[in-house]
Amino acid sequence: MRKIGVIGLGYVGLVTGTCFADLGNRVYGIDINTDKITKLQKGKAPLFEPGLEEMVERNMQRGRLFFTTSYEEGLKDVDFIFIAVDTPSGQEGEADLRAVRQAAGGVAELMSHPFTIVNKSTVPIGTGDWVAETVSANLRPEVEFSVVSNPEFLREGSAIHDFLNPDRIVLGSTDRRAAERVAELYTPLGRPVMITDLRTAEMIKYASNAFLATRISFINEIAAICEKLGADVKQVAAGMGLDHRIGPDYLDAGLGWGGSCFPKDVRALAHMAAIHGAHPQLLRAVMDINQDQRRRVVRTLREILGTLHGKNIGLLGLAYKPNTDDLREAPALEIVHLLTNEGAKVVAYDPVAMDNARNAITEVEYKNDPYEVARGSDGLLVITEWNEFKHLDMGRIQKSMRQAVLIDGRNIYDPDAMRQLGFIYRGIGRGYGETNSVAEELIAAKSPATVSDSES
Ligand code: UDX
Repeated sequence: MRKIGVIGLGYVGLVTGTCFADLGNRVYGIDINTDKITKLQKGKAPLFEPGLEEMVERNMQRGRLFFTTSYEEGLKDVDFIFIAVDTPSGQEGEADLRAVRQAAGGVAELMSHPFTIVNKSTVPIGTGDWVAETVSANLRPEVEFSVVSNPEFLREGSAIHDFLNPDRIVLGSTDRRAAERVAELYTPLGRPVMITDLRTAEMIKYASNAFLATRISFINEIAAICEKLGADVKQVAAGMGLDHRIGPDYLDAGLGWGGSCFPKDVRALAHMAAIHGAHPQLLRAVMDINQDQRRRVVRTLREILGTLHGKNIGLLGLAYKPNTDDLREAPALEIVHLLTNEGAKVVAYDPVAMDNARNAITEVEYKNDPYEVARGSDGLLVITEWNEFKHLDMGRIQKSMRQAVLIDGRNIYDPDAMRQLGFIYRGIGRGYGETNSVAEELIAAKSPATVSDSES
């Protein structure tokens, strides 16, 4: 059993600390947010992550997991200190390291026994050296310490699974023994451990996220070409994925990537490259394509309806992906802005993210279910591929809409089935995007208001 301190209780820090407690260690979670700590001390998880609240409660009851706002209380006898504070994007896309600096300085002022600082936060290449300098500058000279980079590869919504079933553990340090001590914490997981230097470990994190983002922008570019040439990108991706060199994952065309990591990490890597004289032309294109995805669906809707002014547009989903309540850099944020800018009235529903959305998105009317969102609307956009949207009564939806226009931003529906039901359907890359005559399709859609208009 080891004694571990975790500073920063976002989904990375909280999942890391709770899982280490579940592996039998004694863990002290520290965060400056008193509301978060108060909630955690009652055994309540301050964020939506499947399975987390139960694991927090169980380990607190077993006396293995404690939460405090005090560095003094949290770090008094720990051997390892994990820094898992957020590193948001600055003005130019650079990573903002103020929270890391505060954590490293706070640790240094306190520690009086040997310890290992483990950097879990995604930090620019070279930060490990900087953390070592920051700690050295503030630490009592007789106290020994080491710095280890241990990047995380946790996906929101499956973070506990990803922590307990990692493809690999990456550790970087100038002190191999320190890295081996951190590796011992992960021994119960029985997964490959890679020990390298600090900068290489930090680069593995950025390069991995940037590559996954690149795959997504790649398939989104292929989707745009499919719409011009009449191919179905879902089947293209399936055929590509059977090649063992490509694999099936991260080839879902749609509204692109959001969240607290891909956008921030791709921007930060491109920024690091640019300021060090390496021209990040591919990364810039990857970001541009991603940005276009949000605009593309609004343009499609405008082309079909003729105008968005005065139109009722329904959004199914708001979170940046399913199984999370996180709206950070979610496509919904830009899409709502674009729609309301053109005078549309936006109505939305999300199974989990609505509380967060009410604070982040004020120009939307919220409904309690997808059918209420669709009723009387001129267009329905699938923004997040929640499972509950995959089994809706689409015939009922079609009849309830003023104009049966369905823009499937995550390709969860079958185009032919939707057209059979009378929708004007557009997916992302699902065969020809345009049709010869939208008017014919509108009439064919047999949507009540439209047909009566054309008969009058
Ligand atoms: C990501 C990385 O996967 C994880 O390793 C890292 O630690 C944190 O960032 P996360 O942001 O939680 O995890 O979500 P992920 O499931 O990877 O999806 C990222 C984004 O890509 C989401 O917006 C998702 O909607 C989008 N996506 C994913 C696609 O558009 N297409 C795909 O095929 C897969």
